[in-house]
Amino acid sequence: MKSFMIQGAKILATGSATPVVSLNNNKISQIVQTSDEWIFSRTGIKERKILTGFNQSVVDLAILASNKALNKISMNPSHIDLIILATSSPHDLFGSASKVQFKIGAVNAVAFDLTAACSGFVLSLVTASQFLHSGSYKNILVIGADVLSKWVDWSDRSTCILFGDGAGAVILQSCSISNNSILNFQLDSDGKYSDQLSIKYREEIVSSSVLNLYKGSFKYLYMNGKEVYKFAVSQVPLSILKCLNSLNISIQDINWLLLHQANKRILNAVADKLCINRNKIITNLIKYGNTSAASIPLALDEALLKNKICNKDIIVVSGFGAGLTWGTIIIKWYI
Ligand code: COA
Repeated sequence: MKSFMIQGAKILATGSATPVVSLNNNKISQIVQTSDEWIFSRTGIKERKILTGFNQSVVDLAILASNKALNKISMNPSHIDLIILATSSPHDLFGSASKVQFKIGAVNAVAFDLTAACSGFVLSLVTASQFLHSGSYKNILVIGADVLSKWVDWSDRSTCILFGDGAGAVILQSCSISNNSILNFQLDSDGKYSDQLSIKYREEIVSSSVLNLYKGSFKYLYMNGKEVYKFAVSQVPLSILKCLNSLNISIQDINWLLLHQANKRILNAVADKLCINRNKIITNLIKYGNTSAASIPLALDEALLKNKICNKDIIVVSGFGAGLTWGTIIIKWYI
């Protein structure tokens, strides 16, 4: 661990939420020229959930996921000290976390957004763990939530088939160092490739006789799929190995591989490169597609509901995506 630690950090509860409207591959083939066979064979995705209600936003999904996590452990929301909302599709450019804070009644929490696309949850979990390790806070709610369906170009078949909407939440609590769950992390960015996956800012000039004034908006999501694929399968295994080596944990010690749910082929390629048995991969993207910052906590919550994860299991968690940014956390699960 790179930080000075006076307290451990433990995940107490998880929760998740997805919209009710499902868009399967057959339905999407009525929007763009594609097929279930093409999408499933290249991505492993069969359907995705889409937020369709007028003015519904990432805030609604984040509230649902957070309340589920709080209810699981009957925690009074006033005991939350900090809320980090990992999202790249906020309902307000100034941030959405404080709306979640208000709506769930976390009256004593400070709340902020963290923007790092599909790596957002991993970066947020690491950020939260630093506040716990330093002794600054006791209870932290970390939410990964995105509604990229509002930002994809629904006429671009190479991207709109990939993404879905969702939210996942985890509640972390400080604990003794001997019960610390966040064993180590590795975070990286390379802005040289930021153009390969982005939702670019667009501006138009607003005429004025005094000076040039600009009005801003954003374009649709753009992705160079091949380059992003190559980046993920080359960098993620290296990130995992760095993390494991510094802990002296071997590949055989890993119980679960929980990667950002981008694409089944990426998940398999990373597992194969590391010689991790594919049946250790936690995956649910067949039902949800790529839900960006939500994908890891959503898959974690489902795995826990299915009682897959046991006490003291080692879970390797990696996120990767726009930025480009990628990161790994090694978790030792304590029940
Ligand atoms: N249905 C049918 N055909 C499609 C299609 C679709 N939805 N999307 C693209 N195609 C076509 C292309 O037009 C192209 O046709 P052409 O050969 O006639 O020009 C052909 O399929 C191959 O396109 P290509 O982009 O080379 O496909 P690919 O094999 O690279 O697969 C992805 C595309 C997006 C599935 C793949 O690049 C990928 O998985 N990338 C990683 C994406 C990712 O996970 N990003 C998120 C990271 S956070």
